[in-house]
Amino acid sequence: MRHLSVPSSMTQQTIDILRESGWLDTEHRVRPYDDGHILIPLNDNAPSELPPTFVNLPIIDAKPVLWKSRESWQSRFTELVGEGVLENVIITKSHEILGDLLIQRYDEVNEQYLSAFIQSKMETHPRIRLMLIDHGVKGEFRIRDLQPIAVRTDRLVWGEGLMDLESNLFDPTTDVPENGLRLRLDPSRVYFSSKLQYERQNTMNELSQFSAELGRPINVCDPFCGVGPAIAPMLREEGLVGELLVNDLNPDCLPFLFHNLKPLRELKPNFTPNNLVEPTPGLFVGCMDATQISTKADQCGRWDALLVNLPHQTLSLLPALLPLLRPEGPMRICGWTIIPESEVNELPDKLSKIIDCNVEDIEVRVRKQFNATDMLTAFIVRR
Ligand SMILES: C[S@@+](CC[C@H](N)C(=O)[O-])C[C@H]1O[C@@H](n2cnc3c(N)ncnc32)[C@H](O)[C@@H]1O
Repeated sequence: MRHLSVPSSMTQQTIDILRESGWLDTEHRVRPYDDGHILIPLNDNAPSELPPTFVNLPIIDAKPVLWKSRESWQSRFTELVGEGVLENVIITKSHEILGDLLIQRYDEVNEQYLSAFIQSKMETHPRIRLMLIDHGVKGEFRIRDLQPIAVRTDRLVWGEGLMDLESNLFDPTTDVPENGLRLRLDPSRVYFSSKLQYERQNTMNELSQFSAELGRPINVCDPFCGVGPAIAPMLREEGLVGELLVNDLNPDCLPFLFHNLKPLRELKPNFTPNNLVEPTPGLFVGCMDATQISTKADQCGRWDALLVNLPHQTLSLLPALLPLLRPEGPMRICGWTIIPESEVNELPDKLSKIIDCNVEDIEVRVRKQFNATDMLTAFIVRR
């Protein structure tokens, strides 16, 4: 395997550049070589000739060494803290992996075993660059409050060792693979849930079918778009999307949106707050309160399909969004709402009153338990 050979004083900065370029092989070890240099493994994306930044750094073909990987984090954890702790003491065991981040929910009981959690999980997940504790959601955009607790550089660093590291090593920006795409995001600045991947797939299927029925590309409006996970896969389908509106009130979504949606990647529009811009004809991007979009006359009656994904407020916000849809003819609304389990059966009636359509045009699917009393419920309105 190809390794870049660097003097040890240049190791960290070279790793950073390679990681940013997507050329660092994270499954194998950065390790010392016989000549006193450090070998950094390159992945298959690294070009055969590296750019001038790496001039004078030889590429060496050497045997790769895997990050030490054990059977499972659970067995390593038990090795570190003793039998029975995981089974009888620890309540919050699981974690979420987002790109090269490992996110573990905060639990007071886990505090005294934090080092063991870090060692066991980071050793058995060699691709993970940063481990973070999730202290729950905060603020109006329900963003996760994340605290970095371990970083993998050329070695694993945690505890007091973190104080000596440069701040850029704690950057949680990551590329999350989803449905064959890579979505760039920072979960400490924007909302994202990989658990909704299946929902997004369903939306895509629904709108593909709708477009096929109409025999033309459809105009799609996603007023709570986040970093664009629902729209990115649609844009890969030739002829599926005609005009498009993507909007999110959280300004931190914008740089990621412009990265994740291909037609926006090369564009850098100037945003004025509370406005929509049209960086290319028929493609509108906004950073405004979604309920105010319909105050713009040119947006009313324009859209074939509306996505409504602000589940805590969907039903109350829906009336302000309806003017965006075509006033007559076929349309689709794909929405998600969080409602008490006891109210799920009444949802079609409620929606038919808000939207003024027949109950038969509404499909409701309970997706999952959201908390002790509430359910996350998806609905599609077809007209
Ligand atoms: C549940 S997230 C959905 C994001 C995205 N559609 C997804 O599937 O990942 C809701 C989004 O709505 C945004 N938001 C909250 N209130 C808003 C408002 N009044 N107008 C526009 N966007 C809003 C949040 O910043 C957040 O990104």
